[in-house]
Amino acid sequence: MKRIQTKITFTYLVLAVVIIAVVGSISSFEIESLFRERLVHELAQDADAVHFLLSKDSSKEERMRSESVRNMATLWGVRVTLIAEEGKVLADSDVPFEELSSVENHLYRPEVQEAESKKIGVNLRHSATVGRDFLYVAKRFDSTSTVNWLQGVRFIRVSAHIEDIKKNVADIRWNIFWAGFVTLVLVAGASTIVSRRISRPMVAIAESVEKIRRGDLDKHIDVATGDEIGRVAQAVNELVDKLKADIVELQKLQRVRSEFLGNVSHELRTPIFTLQGYLETLLNGAIDDPSVNRSFIEKASAHAARLNSLLNDLIDISRIESGEMKMSFRYFRVNDFLESVVNDFQRAAQQRGVTLSISPATDPDVEVFGDKERLREVMSNLVDNAIKYNGERGNVNVSTERIEGKVRLVVSDTGVGIGEEHLSRIFERFYRVDKDRSRAVGGTGLGLAIVKHIVEAHGSKVDVQSTPGKGTSFGFILKS
Ligand SMILES: Nc1ncnc2c1ncn2[C@@H]1O[C@H](COP(=O)(O)OP(=O)(O)OP(=O)(O)O)[C@@H](O)[C@H]1O
Ligand SMILES: [Mg+2]
Repeated sequence: MKRIQTKITFTYLVLAVVIIAVVGSISSFEIESLFRERLVHELAQDADAVHFLLSKDSSKEERMRSESVRNMATLWGVRVTLIAEEGKVLADSDVPFEELSSVENHLYRPEVQEAESKKIGVNLRHSATVGRDFLYVAKRFDSTSTVNWLQGVRFIRVSAHIEDIKKNVADIRWNIFWAGFVTLVLVAGASTIVSRRISRPMVAIAESVEKIRRGDLDKHIDVATGDEIGRVAQAVNELVDKLKADIVELQKLQRVRSEFLGNVSHELRTPIFTLQGYLETLLNGAIDDPSVNRSFIEKASAHAARLNSLLNDLIDISRIESGEMKMSFRYFRVNDFLESVVNDFQRAAQQRGVTLSISPATDPDVEVFGDKERLREVMSNLVDNAIKYNGERGNVNVSTERIEGKVRLVVSDTGVGIGEEHLSRIFERFYRVDKDRSRAVGGTGLGLAIVKHIVEAHGSKVDVQSTPGKGTSFGFILKS
């Protein structure tokens, strides 16, 4: 019995059968005893009536009394027996007057015995003489008379066969049985409907969950009952939505990762091949050619350096992203810091004909709070970009600005600028606006990704404004 519907229906049915059986048998027994009590009452009244009528007749003629008793009995449909104190039968509606003397003593009939002690006695038994079940009610009358037919009569017994009662009770039982049967059919129908209504949404949930398990994540459970089952359905739906979102996220991550791997190998290949090319040319004889050997070695060295910086950037990125990068925050003077960064780039700027200047903070003691070495990386990247993506006679300016107790660092240039559509993507790893130009100036597109991470680790955010053809300015705020 695996189905909920079957369980519910079965439970209802068993319950109904038990209730109907109990109620049915109790009520049929009650009715039977009610009938019997009423009959006992009637027979007792009949006995009183016999007593009354006998007292009205002053005749002492016993034959006439016998006749009269028979008449009453016929009239009321009962059997009437008059019994004397010592048990002798004085008259009996079923026995002719002549045969009375041969009737056995009735003193030890149970109803007579009971009447002797309790005034009224009742007994139900099978009468062998008549062959039917009889209900006997005997009443004791103490005031014996000498003036009428009551003379010598101590017990008046009235009895009736109970076939009618039995038939009535049987009829009622039959009705109860049918009512019970109809009720049972109704209960079976109702419980089938109710249980189906309860189990149907659960079956729907089970089927949907099975489909979801097989991978059909677009399957939404369509149950809106608003009750507990509806809540289960809703919870499952939400779970599936979340799962779907997680899977999408996971797939995206997977894609980003494999893209990253592709990018990395691609970026590494160029310097390695070039390096290898120069070294092989040198080995193949160019090393003895004084017109090229030095420049080839210098180029090989430059590519080795490029490889080195690329690897450093990659290590940085992976450390930052795995949360391995440890930061050490402290206060340091921002003017000194910026001067040293700018100094490092003076030569590179000059080589490109770019003017690199610094607008120092008005207060030379202004300090900022951060990881100085990481921030040097940030500023180096920004200044490096500003010089690289600039033109002849271009300007790069590094400045500070006090804002509400904090310090904003800005690197602005008069370079090529960045188109609106690229602004939101330049912080992505390997993203370059102009791949050829970047490669020509030795860029891989990792610089700004590192900048973004480090600045965010300082609880800040890099902002950028740019006008293509005019210039760009990057800025971020540090605690002071
Ligand atoms: N100051 C700037 N002016 C114009 N374009 C810029 C500027 N700074 C960055 N960019 C654009 O944003 C891209 C991403 O910069 P990012 O510093 O991340 O990479 P990169 O400089 O190309 O390489 P890397 O810094 O890793 O050597 C650059 O390729 C360039 O196209
Ligand atoms: Mg860069």
